[in-house]
Amino acid sequence: MTAHAQDPGRETHPGWEASANRETSAPPARGPYDEEAELLGQLSEAAGISGWEGEVRGIIRGQLEKMGVCYRTDHLGNIIAYRGPDDEHAGLRVMLAAHMDEVGLVVSGIDKSGLLRFRKVGGIDDRVLVSKSVLVGKNRVPGVIGAKPIHLQQPKEQENPFRAEELFVDIGARNKEEAEKVAKVGDPIVFATRFTRLDERRARGKAFDDRAGCLVLLGALQEKYRVPVYGVFTVQEEVGLRGAQVAAYAIAPGLGLALEGTVCSDTPGSEEHLQATRMGAGPAISVMDAATIHNRRVIERLVEVAGKAGIPYQLRRTTSGGNDAGRIHLARAGAAAGGLSVPCRYIHSPASVLDLEDVVNTRRLLVEFLHSLEEGWTP
Ligand code: CO
Repeated sequence: MTAHAQDPGRETHPGWEASANRETSAPPARGPYDEEAELLGQLSEAAGISGWEGEVRGIIRGQLEKMGVCYRTDHLGNIIAYRGPDDEHAGLRVMLAAHMDEVGLVVSGIDKSGLLRFRKVGGIDDRVLVSKSVLVGKNRVPGVIGAKPIHLQQPKEQENPFRAEELFVDIGARNKEEAEKVAKVGDPIVFATRFTRLDERRARGKAFDDRAGCLVLLGALQEKYRVPVYGVFTVQEEVGLRGAQVAAYAIAPGLGLALEGTVCSDTPGSEEHLQATRMGAGPAISVMDAATIHNRRVIERLVEVAGKAGIPYQLRRTTSGGNDAGRIHLARAGAAAGGLSVPCRYIHSPASVLDLEDVVNTRRLLVEFLHSLEEGWTP
């Protein structure tokens, strides 16, 4: 049907919007961050709203298998990988968590006209939704988030941004019957954003929160450790840290670290002291957020390790937000909490920007930190 029609001349995946010329031009010669960009691109373009993490899970399992890392998948869909000694009780058990899910939308109804109604999954600002290209369901049916055009709005209406309830997704269907052939209530909707290198270091894409963390975790799992290290790719973080809760119960860690793509506001409108993180200034070490007060000794150790290894770092300068560490440190008898994040501008929107050097430095600091625990450290 028309909603599905693919232009055979387009050099793009089914369902993806045609790319601008800059995005389809030949890739530059292999550079220092190409490996990271390639995998981040795959992770970023995968669809994975909370509860629908299957595509992301598939990519991560493939990587773990290529790396020869053993893992299991629990009933919620968390991937729990292990990198440590045969005796899982030989020393402080460390749980690393990066969430696979992203914020997005879900189909909540289909109008007679064939337009799809939706609800939000996770925290999205209604103002970023209007006119965005999206992909619906597992077949990636392309659509656009529609709204009443400015020409038809009353002056009063123009004063307020559209609320999500007033918007709809147009997949080109002529009526309900046509729409129902390709979409149904409960289908996930993600932003149709292609991953793009802006220059050698900087990249644009969707869902860097938390595919950047997933990339860092995959990188850290390439090393072997003499302490029990569990790398968990969690589900349903954006709707309440749910996957991390059950994974932490299963693992019973003494130390839990959340790996994130976190808010970055080094842009106009934010005074310097309100800039939570700065892009390109290295991994952000968490001090406190709405879900966790991070362990002082973990923070000190991260700072010390970064100093010794000459890795740039920053302290995360806000107390808002929350991540998987919030559940991990409260599991069972409790765990010391830590957090390392890649600064990402415009998270929880259709397109974020990050610096690939921050990704590399976050991985470096994490790996050095984990090796430093082999000396017999306790929080
Ligand atoms: Co996140």
